[in-house]
Amino acid sequence: MSEFYEAMGGADGIRKLVEAFYPKVQEHPLLAPLFPEDIAPVMEKQYMFLTQFFGGPPLFSEQYGHPMMRARHMAFPITPERAEAWLGCMKKALQETGWEPDLQMAVLERLKGPAFHFINSSSN
Ligand code: HEM
Repeated sequence: MSEFYEAMGGADGIRKLVEAFYPKVQEHPLLAPLFPEDIAPVMEKQYMFLTQFFGGPPLFSEQYGHPMMRARHMAFPITPERAEAWLGCMKKALQETGWEPDLQMAVLERLKGPAFHFINSSSN
């Protein structure tokens, strides 16, 4: 198991992060319209994905196969503004975890690459 996953508090920590994150997404005017009203299944997938992304057990791949995350986002218009908004919600969620600021920053940095990589549209 990776040091990242351990430092984040393993399953409980990732759960907490995901639970802090989605209410912010649902309140964000640029992000909310992309998500279903019943956010629980999205939260569960994100929990599984972030677990493996940060070095925990490969929960997402076991259930859904290769992550192909950029492809899975192609159905949604991901603009630069939406990538920034997503990262902004994540930053706020991280602040609520109470983790060391260095850890918060490192987690956010690791998510920036994928977030910008998923951009597939120029108009919101
Ligand atoms: C860049 C801004 C992003 C936007 C606007 C966005 C938006 C979305 C939307 C609309 C969905 C589908 C929700 C549904 O099931 O109807 C989704 C699914 C998902 N997103 Fe994102 N996302 C972004 C970035 C990211 C990043 C950076 C990650 C992780 C590194 C991520 C991980 C996931 C996962 C794991 C799912 C579930 C995939 C599945 O259905 O199998 N997303 N996202």
